[in-house]
Amino acid sequence: MNCTNLINSVIEGDCIEVIPSISESSVDLIMTDPPYSLGYDFENDKLSYAEQGAFMAKYLLRMYRVLKDGGTACICMSQEMSHFLYFVGLGSGFVWQNEIVWHRDGGQMPKKKFGICHEIVMIFTKGENHKTFNLDDVRVMSKYAETDKRLNKAGKNPGDVWYVPALFGRKQERIKDDLTGKAIHPTQKPEGLFIPMVKAYSNPGDIILDCFCGTGTVLKVAKDFGRNFIGIDISKKYCNIARKRIGS
Ligand SMILES: C[S@@+](CC[C@H](N)C(=O)[O-])C[C@H]1O[C@@H](n2cnc3c(N)ncnc32)[C@H](O)[C@@H]1O
Repeated sequence: MNCTNLINSVIEGDCIEVIPSISESSVDLIMTDPPYSLGYDFENDKLSYAEQGAFMAKYLLRMYRVLKDGGTACICMSQEMSHFLYFVGLGSGFVWQNEIVWHRDGGQMPKKKFGICHEIVMIFTKGENHKTFNLDDVRVMSKYAETDKRLNKAGKNPGDVWYVPALFGRKQERIKDDLTGKAIHPTQKPEGLFIPMVKAYSNPGDIILDCFCGTGTVLKVAKDFGRNFIGIDISKKYCNIARKRIGS
């Protein structure tokens, strides 16, 4: 299968089998949210530590092959599993760039230890540096901008801790089942988490791959910002939801 046939489509299948059909060095940015072994009711979310490590190695090696030189891979992960991700990523040939702390509120609030209120997005590149890093498109205002005249008036580098509220209990962005009114996917991510990554690490017309696309959040953001996308999910139900969401 030629990569151009897959552009702006959502493919139903196991990404371990589908990614090899994408041409080598053809993707500008990989932005994806794999199963974290949290025990949710979707494929590969109940893996043991050993199985999770083996699964990561399979998808990371395949991702590395399809990424262009200097392309960026942004991989969401739980705090616990992010340690595996770091080492398996290096072992797959990637260069580590950042660990974005997604401060998201909500989540587990245990009684005998502090609450788990952040997740990780690990940022790797194929090669030493990002081929694209549009800092001016993602600058944020410093709280000292009014008083400290030395600061860049265009804003500052956003750093690596991002507060983006999760979709728990939020009504608008969450995709719900028409009949039951319940959330259709247990781990739908907020679009706001991916927007700065799309803007910083890609340009209009670039190709973004999400091989665990779920409801299509990454694909929606890619489309909104004029990027091309390839989505893969093993679930027919989620592929159909993603297609509907992006109007394809
Ligand atoms: C954490 S969810 C992604 C949620 C997505 N970011 C969203 O906002 O809706 C992970 C997804 O990976 C899919 N999945 C699990 N194993 C897979 C595999 N081997 N190949 C492709 N998709 C897979 C699941 O069906 C699930 O939708």
